[in-house]
Amino acid sequence: MCGIVGYVGNQECADLLVDGLRRLEYRGYDSAGLATLVRSDGEKRPIEVLRAVGKLGNLVAALRERPLKGTTGIGHTRWATHGRPTEVNAHPHVAGPIALVHNGIIENHLALKRELSAEGVKFSSDTDTEMVAHLIHREAKAGHELFVAVKRALAQVHGAYAVAVIDQRQPDRIVVAKNASPLVIGFGDGEMFAASDIPAVLPYTNRVLLLEDGEVGLLTADGIQVESLDGKKVEREPRTITWSAAQAEKGGFKHFMLKEIHEQPRAIEDTLRGRVDLANGDIIASEIGLDEATVAKVQRVYFIACGTSSHATLYGRQLVESLAGIPSQCELASEFVGRDPVIGPTDLVVAVSQSGETLDTLAALKVAKEKGAQLLAIANVIHSAIPRAAGAAFYTHAGPEIGVASTKCFTTQLAACLLLAVYLGRRNGKLSKEKAQELLQHTVELPHHMRATLALDDLVRDLARPLASSHSALFLGRGVSFPIAVEGALKLKEISYIHAEGYAAGEMKHGPIALIDANMPVIAVMPDDRSYEKIASNVQEARARDGVVIAIATRGNSEIGAIANKVIYVPKVDPLLSPFITSIPLQLLSYYVADFKGTDVDQPRNLAKTVTVE
Ligand code: M6R
Repeated sequence: MCGIVGYVGNQECADLLVDGLRRLEYRGYDSAGLATLVRSDGEKRPIEVLRAVGKLGNLVAALRERPLKGTTGIGHTRWATHGRPTEVNAHPHVAGPIALVHNGIIENHLALKRELSAEGVKFSSDTDTEMVAHLIHREAKAGHELFVAVKRALAQVHGAYAVAVIDQRQPDRIVVAKNASPLVIGFGDGEMFAASDIPAVLPYTNRVLLLEDGEVGLLTADGIQVESLDGKKVEREPRTITWSAAQAEKGGFKHFMLKEIHEQPRAIEDTLRGRVDLANGDIIASEIGLDEATVAKVQRVYFIACGTSSHATLYGRQLVESLAGIPSQCELASEFVGRDPVIGPTDLVVAVSQSGETLDTLAALKVAKEKGAQLLAIANVIHSAIPRAAGAAFYTHAGPEIGVASTKCFTTQLAACLLLAVYLGRRNGKLSKEKAQELLQHTVELPHHMRATLALDDLVRDLARPLASSHSALFLGRGVSFPIAVEGALKLKEISYIHAEGYAAGEMKHGPIALIDANMPVIAVMPDDRSYEKIASNVQEARARDGVVIAIATRGNSEIGAIANKVIYVPKVDPLLSPFITSIPLQLLSYYVADFKGTDVDQPRNLAKTVTVE
């Protein structure tokens, strides 16, 4: 996830672009850049480009040293996906008279690179984005003006993009286009704006047009002309935004956490993008971060992680065992380093961390490295310490997560574990092509079902209100729902400060059942799967002791309504994939309980987003 901005009008635009980027910095902050063009001072001038590594402040300092002139310009704040956060990888990318900023992932960038290399193109970055700049340049060299060149180039691109492009040959315009990544057009008076999100344009105008997938726009100071990629005219009126600038920064949501919960279908799409080979029922090998020789040695998979990430690994272990038939263990990183684990070269140690910087996980990874284990990191932040130490990385591409309580990073970690398990199962032959095809087909359909689950927001909100006065809560699950129960309990305690326990439902009778009375809410995660009958019995046991049960069950379940006090019915999916769905009502429940209590949802007390102490 990155942020892009564009301006065309009569004002000097460098500071204006920086102001827009500041409002988009939540989308990425490892490097930033600008490109500007002088529109009409009589002489033709080259595009001016300035880029800087690190937070936006570094670009601002560079701009003070070397101001950029021009009334047409584009800008970018980066959250790296392909290529390290360095100045050469920062946007804008330039090819001949073309400069371009991009948010998204170009899936066929390797094929495009091969094609362009064969034509003698030299690359100056490690990014997928640079291919698009060169494609547009190739069309420009063939004599096409900018609008046509962009349409022709994008027709050759697969993947997610929002782009803004300027062309030295036509300094009075910006061409923008969108597919899967957001792009907003702002209508000023004699000036036009483009941005990844509404807050970036809101100080200048509240009249906006949201570009749709497959649309391309030609922006000049006087307005916009929109077409589909294949050249059909699109007529749509701008709408007026009534939110305040502060509200808009969170996309209209009250908190970042709620926004991130709602971003999950998109985040899962980004994790899966370009990695699933449905035709062969496989995972694209170059995407997984492991070579075949390493995989052939693996006799056991060891997951290490902390907190929410460790809950994702509990799911990962089950998948590795059931899909790849490889023995698998999970361990809290802080415990792993505190003993003398028996591991060696036939073990694959997978360190899972959204930040990629958690010191406990890093320390555990170093222990595994010393013992000669094979290493892989599953991380969200590119080139962070853990992927660097592992030497092999699978990035989740969830985009920056601002809320301290992890939500979209968790579900994208589940997806990464799933793809890893399918990959291992296909390599060792435990998972047939047909079974993998079926599972992967269901996996790519998940974002659709997650969107339907998010529509339960209001219902969950109503159920949350009475929970806000509870002192404790018990979360139960079995099988793949056990990690979700434990994660549900962690979410509630982190942000609402209500004590909560996540338990394997079968363990309830071995102790926690003593806690159950009319003051103990019990949240049972019980989708239709092979554990359903057993957890239904556990729910009966809780009800017999006056426990107040909220069940998360599959739509169409006709008996649970008579057993539980309240039911949240979720869409039916493949039983192995239910965690992607059942996580959502639990996240919403915690969120609304905390919001009713009035706690600081995005920055709960005593917690930090990145924990760099042991
Ligand atoms: O960055 P990591 O995934 O390594 O972080 C691990 C934990 O600190 C983290 O998951 C923590 O539990 C979060 N606050 C969960 O919401």
